[in-house]
Amino acid sequence: MLNDETVAITGVTGFIGKHIADNLLARGFRVRALTRTLRQHSPENLTWVRGALEDKASLAELVSTADYVVHCAGQVRGHSEEIFVDSNVTGSLNLMQAALENKRCRRFLFMSSLAARHPDLSWYAKSKRTAEQKLDALAAPSPVTLGIFRPTAVYGPGDKEMKPLFDWMLRGILPRLGDSDAKLSFLHVSDLAEAVGQWLVSEQPPARPCELCDGDAAGYNWQRVRDIGEKVRNGRVRLVGVPLPVLKLLADISVLSCRLAGKEPMLTRSKIHELTHQNWSASNNGLCEEINWFPRISLEHALRERLF
Ligand SMILES: NC(=O)c1ccc[n+]([C@@H]2O[C@H](COP(=O)([O-])OP(=O)(O)OC[C@H]3O[C@@H](n4cnc5c(N)ncnc54)[C@H](OP(=O)(O)O)[C@@H]3O)[C@@H](O)[C@H]2O)c1
Repeated sequence: MLNDETVAITGVTGFIGKHIADNLLARGFRVRALTRTLRQHSPENLTWVRGALEDKASLAELVSTADYVVHCAGQVRGHSEEIFVDSNVTGSLNLMQAALENKRCRRFLFMSSLAARHPDLSWYAKSKRTAEQKLDALAAPSPVTLGIFRPTAVYGPGDKEMKPLFDWMLRGILPRLGDSDAKLSFLHVSDLAEAVGQWLVSEQPPARPCELCDGDAAGYNWQRVRDIGEKVRNGRVRLVGVPLPVLKLLADISVLSCRLAGKEPMLTRSKIHELTHQNWSASNNGLCEEINWFPRISLEHALRERLF
């Protein structure tokens, strides 16, 4: 069933964006998706638009027939602050400008991050918070409703960052980054994609920054994750703390080897502050009722059913 409305999405070639596109296509939306690389095949009702966040002409084309924009593209790896600012701040503003100029777009959803709650922790966190503030200033005087999602750590099929941790745990070893009593939270990618869909179709979507997590009432810490791992594998899981100097050394090696390979590193000294932060608990805080969205996949269920 086609609902005759079009959503322009960025980041569809990445982990989360793909799940969002699938969710919106299943709801009957037409999708226009930004891609930096040539794409030969596309599912029905999805049109690839070749371009990038730095290329304003391609963004104008992307949003040309869009009723909504879901901005999920983002720089998540980088060896300098500038790399995050260029993509996450300037790129996001370029996209909002294109959406404002098309005079058709009614809603713009920005995929920020829980990290934006603590902008001093890392270059990434700061770039997300700055983007939120600048997008808000651009959208406020316009008819476009801006939504800001701050998901916690997202995992699921296609993820490359959390998967190794879960794989190790199900083999019996859980590397612990940061203090043993640090608070953690998680969100399965299909629940996040469903929240995006619900935000788009809800009558009055919240315009404030919204945290998103799986809503687990007890919350998580490393011991609880280990306990879940032990239940799922029906055997012992050893929690092994990674000392800070070792993390720093790993970060330096990662930066160097990525430079040699011409890639951007995920693990940097800047990122370590984020990874070892004490409190990554999150709250859906009213969002569930407001958009009629209720996360369904707990970490235990996902691990048991290998939904990652
Ligand atoms: N994964 C998480 O746990 C998590 C948690 C909270 C928030 N988020 C946010 O969710 C979004 C998606 O994250 P992800 O985990 O799916 O990352 P990902 O797999 O690395 O995907 C990033 C996407 O953004 C695109 N992109 C990056 N820079 C771009 C640019 N300058 N122009 C056009 N496209 C660009 C990438 O395109 P290419 O394929 O061409 O590289 C890719 O499609 C990001 O904004 C991230 O900050 C993620």
